[in-house]
Amino acid sequence: MRAQLPADRPVIVRFSQFKERAFDARVADTPAELGEILTAFADAGAGVLHASQRRFWQPAFAGSVLNLAGWAKRLTGLPSITVGSVGLTRDFLRPGRPESVSGLATRLADGEFDLVAVGRALLGNPAWATLAAAGRLAEIADYRKADEDVYP
Ligand SMILES: Cc1cc2nc3c(=O)[nH]c(=O)nc-3n(C[C@H](O)[C@H](O)[C@H](O)COP(=O)(O)O)c2cc1C
Repeated sequence: MRAQLPADRPVIVRFSQFKERAFDARVADTPAELGEILTAFADAGAGVLHASQRRFWQPAFAGSVLNLAGWAKRLTGLPSITVGSVGLTRDFLRPGRPESVSGLATRLADGEFDLVAVGRALLGNPAWATLAAAGRLAEIADYRKADEDVYP
């Protein structure tokens, strides 16, 4: 892919540390293992790493607050994208509240990762990014499971 694409088109590689029906599934149990995998992607020409985790605020490994995208960036030096329950106001499948978007913005500004991907919160709020960028968080409607019905 790298060879086929123009030089100014980055190849974004998405990798995951969970499966829908196996939340504990892991491709790497330690930072060293993750480093081996991600270095192979980097050596093959990946330009950006997109780290899929369920909840962006959860540390990827014990002993550090870095999330999966934080580790991807630290291990490779490549820019990384975080994702996982961004903008959701309640947790699904367990009690508790997700970490706030402002907390996420601080981590982004600190350079832990470089981009943020938003999924479900966009379904009921197409203007999510515009409102979040303007700090108008109170105007963003809560995500509801029924919002997924926009796709037949
Ligand atoms: C029902 C459902 C199942 C998902 N299954 C997986 C999965 O097996 N592996 C994975 O990496 N991501 C999975 N995802 C995450 C999505 O691929 C995507 O990263 C996420 O929906 C976007 O972030 P957000 O919706 O948490 O904002 C799933 C998401 C949903 C809603």
